[in-house]
Amino acid sequence: MTTIHPIDIILHKRDGLALTDAEIHALIRAIVDRTTEKQLITDAQIASFLMAVFQRGLNPQELATLTSAMRTSGDTFDAAPLHTFTIDKHSTGGVGDKTSLLIAPILAAAGLASPTPAGIPGICVPMISGRSLGHTGGTLDKLETIPGFNTQLNLTQLADVLKKCGAALIGQTPRIVPADRILYGLRDHTGTVESPFLITASIMSKKLAEDLNALVLDVKVGSGAFMPTYEKSRLLAELMVQTGEASGTRTVALLTSMDEPLGRFSGNWVEVWECIDIMRATHKETRHPMSRDIIQLSNILAGWMLHLAGRADTPEAGASLSDEILLSGEAYKAWLRIVTAQGGDTAIFMDPAAHHKSTATRTITAPHSGYLASMDCKQVGWAVQRLGAGRTKPGDPVSAHAGIEMHAKLGDRLEANQPLITLFAEDPSLLDEPEDMLRKTLQISATPPQLQPLIHEVVKKPN
Ligand code: URA
Repeated sequence: MTTIHPIDIILHKRDGLALTDAEIHALIRAIVDRTTEKQLITDAQIASFLMAVFQRGLNPQELATLTSAMRTSGDTFDAAPLHTFTIDKHSTGGVGDKTSLLIAPILAAAGLASPTPAGIPGICVPMISGRSLGHTGGTLDKLETIPGFNTQLNLTQLADVLKKCGAALIGQTPRIVPADRILYGLRDHTGTVESPFLITASIMSKKLAEDLNALVLDVKVGSGAFMPTYEKSRLLAELMVQTGEASGTRTVALLTSMDEPLGRFSGNWVEVWECIDIMRATHKETRHPMSRDIIQLSNILAGWMLHLAGRADTPEAGASLSDEILLSGEAYKAWLRIVTAQGGDTAIFMDPAAHHKSTATRTITAPHSGYLASMDCKQVGWAVQRLGAGRTKPGDPVSAHAGIEMHAKLGDRLEANQPLITLFAEDPSLLDEPEDMLRKTLQISATPPQLQPLIHEVVKKPN
């Protein structure tokens, strides 16, 4: 067998040649093994490879192989013994985006209602989530505000919770896709984060390690989106769909608006609180009006998942079923089951407002009458981070109770001095800078603004 040298792979990519499957697998193996004493490849070489990919891109075969090599670089979940339909949702990240906390119990409730012959929920959601970074929130940080909730389950424990509950929400373990941790760490320092090919391989290797039958992707567009333009978000959606389908996972991506925070609250516990309120509302009229967009988005994404899982003839019928599951209280029951199975204390859900312990609050009011016209949603996300809800670097602690409450949505009519947004922090000295950022970015106009649709486009494999 001839030895494949990292330098040759770098030269091939640099010169625009297509890499072979053998080259890509050898490279990823070398990248993971370098953490042992073998030292097969240097950081400088990995960084050069990343820059070559950034400049040259990858063809569909190379991207599928890179994703697969990364996926199998460590432990993967094996769903086969469950004989169930596995499905997940991934979002490219947003402000106030708490759809995971609603979608996991909605799908779990649907799965619990249709068990397999072995008594396992007929749909299972093995959701491996991330932490907040930059201007976007993280599902794990939100869940960890629930006393006792354990996000650090191993893959055996994940299977156990799925069998009982139909969904589990856990964090990445060091043994799942170790190649991504090494590559991402270097991308951060070498100007190669923004490559749509590297982002696709990074996201899809982790999602496909969950052994999924189907995956629904929420790719954000707008001022709070991770990708800077609509075209780049669309390209990312296409690459992720193509890569998911190439691995045998039915994959659909929705391009959705991220021009303002989703729902009523953005932060950590406050987002869990909002979801509890949504799941406990048994009538549409008792839902908080500021939660309407997050409920709609969750139903649309869950609707696609229910459709792909064979529980609804169309995504639209799936969205109606999702809303029925919410209003019936079945999603809330499934949520209580999941939280209990993961060690969380459900007693605090009885009065979520009482559990909210920010010591400092401040409300920004409308300086004059008009319509809430625009905001840089990324700036709003950064304001939430500066209040303490997010982190500056991986590993930093986050505040459970910092965050914001929106009192108006884009397009809403405002009178002078009407409350616009309330800030929460655990330390009063943290309020001033976010207040200034928010005052600068929230724009009120004399005429109603042109509003963007919540869902722009659905990207899927042609039939
Ligand atoms: N999220 C990931 O997991 N990877 C990326 O490369 C970008 C966002």
